[in-house]
Amino acid sequence: MVHAVYPGTFDPVTNGHLDLIQRASTLFDKVTVVIATNPKKQPVFTRDQRISMVQDALQGCDNVAVEGHDGLLVEYARQIDAKVIIRGLRAVSDFEYEFQLAGMNRRLAPEIETLFLTPAEQYSYVSSSLVREIARLGADISECVPNNVATALADKMR
Ligand code: COA
Repeated sequence: MVHAVYPGTFDPVTNGHLDLIQRASTLFDKVTVVIATNPKKQPVFTRDQRISMVQDALQGCDNVAVEGHDGLLVEYARQIDAKVIIRGLRAVSDFEYEFQLAGMNRRLAPEIETLFLTPAEQYSYVSSSLVREIARLGADISECVPNNVATALADKMR
């Protein structure tokens, strides 16, 4: 059985993330979405809110679990016996940061491979911070996020 983890901040989850999760769920026996800590980010939504937003958006994806984790990603991957880390590449600008993350994770855990997936073209410009920004300014975000996230963002901005 091949188990993959898909880590990120998911503040909030977008249709681009969901597109990747669905692609990964067809490639691996099990996928665990890990709501992890990026020390450079101060999320707007609590970890529990981010977990339940992903869970609600994922109904019907039976081989996908959603968990939160505070420490090193590779340690968590080892704990749950995941052999693959999935990351998304939207554009060349993602590459340098992703290359560093993958290199460091390989140094920490050589037995775990990082695999990159690209989201569908219409999501290549979507990011969580842009979605938050345009929601704050009152623009329509319904094509970028699932309904439950659009509602949560509207509540938050109010
Ligand atoms: N669709 C939409 N947006 C996407 C996307 C996709 N398919 N793929 C990436 N993004 C966006 C995200 O929305 C996010 O946008 P934002 O910066 O505007 O919020 C950005 O690209 C990347 O964020 P995300 O994928 O959430 O990852 P991250 O860079 O915040 O996460 C961690 C980094 C959490 C994976 C990393 O810090 C980590 O592993 N932390 C655990 C601790 C650890 O092990 N550290 C050592 C690492 S070597």
